[in-house]
Amino acid sequence: MTTLSQDELKTLVGQAALKYVVPGEIVGVGTGSTVNKFLDALASIKDQIKGAVSSSVASTERLRALGIRVFDANDVAELAVYIDGADEIDHQGHMIKGGGAALTREKIVAAQSRQFVCIADDSKLVQTLGKFPLPVEVIPMAAHRVIRQFATMGGQAQLRLKNNAPLVTDNGQVLLDVTGLQISDPLAFEAEVNQWPGVVTVGVFAFQKAQICLLGTADGVKTLTF
Ligand code: 5RP
Repeated sequence: MTTLSQDELKTLVGQAALKYVVPGEIVGVGTGSTVNKFLDALASIKDQIKGAVSSSVASTERLRALGIRVFDANDVAELAVYIDGADEIDHQGHMIKGGGAALTREKIVAAQSRQFVCIADDSKLVQTLGKFPLPVEVIPMAAHRVIRQFATMGGQAQLRLKNNAPLVTDNGQVLLDVTGLQISDPLAFEAEVNQWPGVVTVGVFAFQKAQICLLGTADGVKTLTF
């Protein structure tokens, strides 16, 4: 048996996600290297869809380069499906997202969609969320207070840097990455952290969890339903 690379697994799940795209409709798209594989596949059926709602500047640029029309989220109502990757996904479909810094817009488009189809290689499947550093988008003036608040629950939060300066998100805010957490109750965790002053979005997706995960494995694409 030939072992597939992580990149090949991403290609497989990106292509498999095409089956969930509803002809004649607008599709919600996430951000990241796995989604980029999906977008390449989506280009092959671009004449069969109206276009996409995008979750980041990066995905918008890629969609436009592929000749796929991008709609503003405010100009469309409910979407049939949202397709996105994850940094971790558990066996109930809860995820950690935001490794690519796009968590806030990802959560907005996911909330606008009837179904979340997660595409991931099998290294992302975990028993308990928290090994991957949890991204949290915050308003800059709250960053140090939120870092201290995570410390009270055993988390070590660090400001994400890019080129030696704080990374600025598509929304003009900053990101914390938090290690040392074991998120055993994702719904309660998301609800709590979301209400801390200055937190824009926490990268736990429990309220906007996946209904389906297309998981790339050595044996091909496995479909998990939650
Ligand atoms: C971006 C995300 C991505 O979905 C997540 O980081 C996974 O990315 P990749 O497909 O590159 O592994 O949440 O904010």
